[in-house]
Formats: sequence, C-alpha cells, structure tokens
Amino acid sequence: MSSEHLVIAVDGPSGSGKSSVSRAAAHALGVGYLDTGAMYRAVTWWCLEEGVDLEDRDAVAQAARDIPLEMGTDPSTPSVRVSGREIEEDIRTTRVSEVVSKVATNTSVRPVLQQLQRDLIAEIAGRTGGVVAEGRDITTVVAPDADVRVLLTASVEARLRRRSKELHGADHDDAVEATRDQIVRRDADDSTVSEFTEAAEGVTLVDTSDLDFEQSVQALLDVVRRVAPDK
Ligand code: DC
Repeated sequence: MSSEHLVIAVDGPSGSGKSSVSRAAAHALGVGYLDTGAMYRAVTWWCLEEGVDLEDRDAVAQAARDIPLEMGTDPSTPSVRVSGREIEEDIRTTRVSEVVSKVATNTSVRPVLQQLQRDLIAEIAGRTGGVVAEGRDITTVVAPDADVRVLLTASVEARLRRRSKELHGADHDDAVEATRDQIVRRDADDSTVSEFTEAAEGVTLVDTSDLDFEQSVQALLDVVRRVAPDK
C-alpha cells in the first residue's frame, strides 16, 4: 500500500499473543486496529443466534454478506457490534470458539470477509493515519501490499501456556493439558485454509517464545521502525 498511511499486517497462530501485542502496538503508534478473527467470530455468533446451519455453506456465506456488523477500531476499547448490540464478550465464549473454524474454513465465506477487511483497512487508515490489522491471512491475502508484514509466532509450549492462562486463569500443568487439544485442533483446522506458521516472502518473522508482553510489543515496533522508517 503505497499511500501516506501506515498499514501494518500481523498474522499468527492462536496464543502467539498477536491480538494483545497488535493492539498495544496500534495504541503506541496512535493508529486504528482491526481484529479480523473477531469478524469470523461475529458471523459465527450471528449464525448461532439466527439458527443458520453452520454446515450449510451457502447459507453461512449469505449470513456473512448480510450481517449488520460494526467493528470497533480503537485499540484501547475492543468492540464488535451486530445490529447495535455489543457482542465483544459473546464472541469469545466456548460456544463460539468451538465452532468458529467451521465458518473460517468455509471457502465461500472467506472472500466475503476478506473484501470487507480490505475496505475496513483502507477506511481506518484514512481516518486515523494508519492501521494494525491482525489475523491469519492478512500478510498474504488481505493486505499483501501492506507497508509492514509480520508473522508473530511462539513455540507450541509457550502458546499453550499463554492461552490456558487466558482461559483458565492458570498456567499449571492441568490447565495447559486441558487447553492443548483445543489449540492444536483449531490450528490444524485453520491451517487447511491459510498458512500462518511459516513466513511468506517479504514477511518478517518475530518469535515471542522467550519474550514477555512488553518485549513482544517492542519487537513489533522495532520491525515497524526498521521496515517503514519514513512513516
Ligand atoms: O484469532 P481468533 O481465534 O479470534 O480467530 C477466530 C477464528 O477465525 C480462528 O478459527 C481463526 C480464524 N481466522 C481466519 O481464518 N482468518 C483470519 N484472518 C482471522 C481468523
């Protein structure tokens, strides 16, 4: 994207810390933020609410076209609204997490949301001077021409520990084991439609396995400064 706006694309698997790190980096840079995973979650939530059969690929794709979705873009206030109703918490429940891969792997849904994401990225960047957009296919499909493209990874063990802390408020061994199946299965499902474990050409790999949260944010900001020093 060769506009004057700074477009930063961040991809990564579950538990790589990409959402919190991307949000903090957007905040530090004073630009907007787009959580594209939240869009797949919102469509999933809406289908469950409206009784759309998640196995009916066309009906789910139609729901993705019709959903009255408003994505919050302020990195300090995550917000997702459908028909004016705030669903930021509803989309993080197990009810949605357990089935969201069905929507994310629906190849009729993906182009609909990918186009919406491109439009939102342009709109947010124009309004706030830039955007950090994060997901699984932002560096490769949604915004392959972004100024900065980063793949944020972490070892499976580090990701499991972080995710289980998030989900169960603990990182002891039982909680880690309880999360392992969920994470590994979802990554396997998701990777059938997008490759997010190896950096594509031109994408900078940032491994956060041995970094704490602040260090991960700094690592992302360092890449931005190095790759787009004039923006
Ligand atoms: O990052 P997350 O867990 O909120 O993502 C929710 C689901 O959407 C997960 O199955 C991965 C998928 N996803 C995707 O396929 N493409 C994206 N750009 C973002 C998320």
